[in-house]
Amino acid sequence: MKLKRRYKWLNIERNNKFVNRILFLSIPSALVLLVLAIFNIVSPLIAVLTYAAILVFNSALLLPINFELQQLKKYTSSLACGEDFDEKDMPISPKETKEIIKSINAMHRFWAQKTDDLEAQSISDAAVLDTLPDPIMMIDRAGNIIGANLSSRNLFGRKITDKNIEKLFDSNNFIEAVNRVLKKESEAENLIFYIHKPKEQKLYAHIKQLPWISKGRAVAVISLYDMTRSMKIEKMQSDFVANASHELRTPLAIISGFIETLLTTAKDDAAARENFLKIMQDQTAYMSSLIENLLSLSRIELSMDDKPHDVVHIAKIVDEVKQALSLKAKSRDILIVSKIDDDVTDIIADGQQIKQLIQNLSDNAIKYGLSQSDVAIKVKMVDDIPASKSLNVASGPAVAISITNKGPKISSENIARLTERFFRMQEHKDLNIKGTGLGLSIAKQIIVRHHGNLTVRSGNLSGTTFTVYLPKNPNPSPNLQDN
Ligand SMILES: Nc1ncnc2c1ncn2[C@@H]1O[C@H](COP(=O)(O)OP(=O)(O)OP(=O)(O)O)[C@@H](O)[C@H]1O
Ligand SMILES: [Mg+2]
Repeated sequence: MKLKRRYKWLNIERNNKFVNRILFLSIPSALVLLVLAIFNIVSPLIAVLTYAAILVFNSALLLPINFELQQLKKYTSSLACGEDFDEKDMPISPKETKEIIKSINAMHRFWAQKTDDLEAQSISDAAVLDTLPDPIMMIDRAGNIIGANLSSRNLFGRKITDKNIEKLFDSNNFIEAVNRVLKKESEAENLIFYIHKPKEQKLYAHIKQLPWISKGRAVAVISLYDMTRSMKIEKMQSDFVANASHELRTPLAIISGFIETLLTTAKDDAAARENFLKIMQDQTAYMSSLIENLLSLSRIELSMDDKPHDVVHIAKIVDEVKQALSLKAKSRDILIVSKIDDDVTDIIADGQQIKQLIQNLSDNAIKYGLSQSDVAIKVKMVDDIPASKSLNVASGPAVAISITNKGPKISSENIARLTERFFRMQEHKDLNIKGTGLGLSIAKQIIVRHHGNLTVRSGNLSGTTFTVYLPKNPNPSPNLQDN
């Protein structure tokens, strides 16, 4: 910088190289003049004056070229810095320089267009990667994450880029597999591993070297697949098979026992045959409702992590349930009466599940209520759902649906067990009232999914009231804790 000072009147920078070049160019003339002066062919004064004239001439010749070069330098450096420098403002004259500027401009435009295209391409590539449901990450040679799609950022946090995989994953098996790929000991690795942070998860990883033609910093790609959900499905399937086979064993044993009797001892006994066939019919009906309820329970459990999103009109559902149960109610001489407050609003919920929930509770009220009495369904708005010790209950306004039937008081020990799977009160078993003991566990799972609550009140005079609370919006606020 010291060497470069601006000669304002010339609009060029002082350049020692330029002076050196002029001097260098005039060396041959200086030598010739020196020889001529030594041999007295020209006088020393003439020689000095001629040399001075040559210097002036050379400078006059080279100065414009130097000036053009400086302008070119200025222009190209401004382009290199991404500045907008207008070529029209440049005091350039020779045609050649203008042509050089033109070529530089053409080249600049070409690369600017290329950069725009690449930028657009990488934005659309990133958008495509963001739509993928599974996490995908790119890492450099040192194992630092240099790119991650939306699903990875959702799983590990927004600031995942530049973090080293050793800091992000707490699985040695996974880190060793990544290192094998980074050290080029293997081209690709596949493994199943567990992580404990940010949450317990079973993941399947595919780690692959990028082909050498991809010239960027990324040397490998890690794609992950969350196996937690499939594990859950597997567990549900095995639970279902275990439950179903256990519960189906009894009715099957009963049916095969009667078939055996009908084929042998009661072969010619018409009265026994009719009686036995009736029992077998009851048992098959029980088996089919058992299978239906177990399937229902599995389906609800599978939907537990999905947020309900239907706009549900409770009054309509109550009407549908009343209609569906009207025959059953009539057979017990029971009247279903409903009262829906005017201020009851629509809620966000899973419409089908809410129908199943109201139907199960109403079915119980008809089945276990006193015959020749009323079953009352009341729907009203409440400001808040009562707190629960075991459920994660949403806060804010909710719909309260209460279903009341007349009948003997349920003891508090029994109330505590009502939603257990396969639980049935002894007195109802003794009265031979049919049921699988799954209706209330199904109801509870639906309520849990909706972050609602269920209360049961029972008295000899007041009868039994099951009240379901469903939030207007089932997604709980983040600061909500189990209480
Ligand atoms: N409204 C009620 N009044 C009295 N007891 C009830 C009432 N609702 C449920 N119960 C008792 O709780 C038990 C469990 O009910 P749940 O609905 O889970 O099963 P279920 O009615 O026996 O079978 P399913 O619903 O499959 O027909 C019942 O067997 C019954 O003993
Ligand atoms: Mg029931």
